[in-house]
Amino acid sequence: MSESYIQKLFAERIGGNKFGKDTKIYKFEKIKRAKVQTRKAHPNVELLDFGVGEPDDMAFPMVTEALKIECAKPENRGYADNGIQELKDAAAKYMEKVYGVKGIDSVKEVLHSIGSKPALAMIPSAFINPGDVALVTVPGYPILATHTQWYGGRMIHLPLQEENNFLPDLDAISKDDLKKAKLLYINYPNNPTGATATIEFFKKVVKFAQKNNVIVVHDAAYAALSFNGKPLSFLSVDGAKDVGIEIHSFSKAFNMTGWRLAFVVGNGNIISAFGHVKDNYDSGQFIAIQKAGVYALEHTEITEKISAKYKRRLEMMVEALNSAGFSAKMPKGSFYLYVDAPKGIKSGVRFEAAEDVSEYLITEKLISTVPWDDVGHYLRFSATFSAKNEEDERRVIAEMKKRLGELKLEF
Ligand SMILES: Cc1ncc(COP(=O)(O)O)c(C=O)c1O
Repeated sequence: MSESYIQKLFAERIGGNKFGKDTKIYKFEKIKRAKVQTRKAHPNVELLDFGVGEPDDMAFPMVTEALKIECAKPENRGYADNGIQELKDAAAKYMEKVYGVKGIDSVKEVLHSIGSKPALAMIPSAFINPGDVALVTVPGYPILATHTQWYGGRMIHLPLQEENNFLPDLDAISKDDLKKAKLLYINYPNNPTGATATIEFFKKVVKFAQKNNVIVVHDAAYAALSFNGKPLSFLSVDGAKDVGIEIHSFSKAFNMTGWRLAFVVGNGNIISAFGHVKDNYDSGQFIAIQKAGVYALEHTEITEKISAKYKRRLEMMVEALNSAGFSAKMPKGSFYLYVDAPKGIKSGVRFEAAEDVSEYLITEKLISTVPWDDVGHYLRFSATFSAKNEEDERRVIAEMKKRLGELKLEF
């Protein structure tokens, strides 16, 4: 059969007439395939999955109950447009209670979103003209960068390096790129490095943005998962609201990944432009979900319990990984451990990249991880592996320690 004319109509931004013909297999697909094959080859051995990037638990019962009640109310049935005021009010109060950010105008400075991902996808459409630049940290969550390119913009990678505590070096950006830069994307606690920002870094970011007329987009998807005292918001720094916004997700803070709920908070001008774009994309999240979200925001003890669980698991994981030769350090937030990938194993096997290590661990030891080869070679171990209870957590981690120990890894 001759090729359908449809193949010739694909837009260049998704590959033009080559769309769907790329034979390169991307890392997440590789991991998925390796997992399926390994499960088939060893149906009776437990696969230890440290590769997952989302919570292993349900939303808390009080939140699911709130949804049950709200979804049966006729007044919640319709289009939600740019969201209900109750959620905006609750978000402003939450910012003050959890992050100490005072004075958010809940009418003009907050908007809900159907998760952080669509918010990150929409923001470039409000700011990026062809030729404009978005500064994005790498490795990282790629959505804002992808959409910047789709609008004819260019992304400049800011490498996150261990020697700089995985914070970007803003002084290293060229003058020419700075002139064209409109957006700066940062994310702390960071996926995948698990690094946290400091007040000093956020202050520097505010100054940088003011000096270079850049908008800061702080992706705070993991911000509430903090292990050492109060979590940190970019907006808690003086002047931050003049230069940027912050995106808070319910996915990780409240185990509500599939519910699709987030809020964007900060500079009123930016929020207004985001609202304009959003209004042209969707009609808002189901009001019942937003109301259950209000319940969650009013019960921050939920996040405290979730954080305590990850802290407990991460501490055990650090010990287990280090006993196998890794150099894992306890992060201050998130649920990730980002560790240098081994170069080989005693039996003689050598690894060129973290991707090779990941593939080896899944096929030989049924341990799933995510490799990162963008800046150095690292493996990401996530504390969201499935375990029934604390005893089961200890069993899973002991099993990981045993399997990794058998390899005699070399670094
Ligand atoms: C850094 C980062 N930002 C955003 C998201 C997406 O969050 P949401 O579920 O709110 O769309 C993720 C999800 O893994 C993430 O890791």
